[in-house]
Amino acid sequence: MKILFVCLGNICRSALAEGIMNKLVQEEGLEWVIDSAGTGGWHVGEAPDPRAIRIAKENGIDIARYQARQLQKKDAQIFDRILVMDQANYEQVLKMTGVSEHAAQIDFLLNSTHPSENKAVPDPWYDDKLFAPVFNMIDTACRSWLMNLKNELP
Ligand code: 4NP
Repeated sequence: MKILFVCLGNICRSALAEGIMNKLVQEEGLEWVIDSAGTGGWHVGEAPDPRAIRIAKENGIDIARYQARQLQKKDAQIFDRILVMDQANYEQVLKMTGVSEHAAQIDFLLNSTHPSENKAVPDPWYDDKLFAPVFNMIDTACRSWLMNLKNELP
């Protein structure tokens, strides 16, 4: 299974999701490929936001050496699942990769815990207080995706 998490900058939400999911699959002994990317290119090559690094560290996850990258068209050929944080990410992924909106390949991260609601993970970039709740939201959703996708495999 190959999973790509996508947000706008790839320095807050999707970087956290990559760190969380990496830890979860490692704990399960699964050899899945986990990665993240941003629809925007402003932070390419940068480490995650210090506030994201801090909340991850407080939860036993090290994302300090991650480097932001921008979503590529070819990501759609590589990843089984592209999980987005909000509606704007969703629309950008469709535009940038050509993936069909009806394909199971693309979905909202929070649809594992809130099926079909297409709920957004709020962007904590603008609000320091959001990092802790956003971490917990992503963590719960990742656990749920892991359980669902594990059961999907032959
Ligand atoms: P992210 O947060 O999409 O969760 O990584 C953001 C990071 C940077 C910007 C916006 C959102 N920015 O405008 O630079």
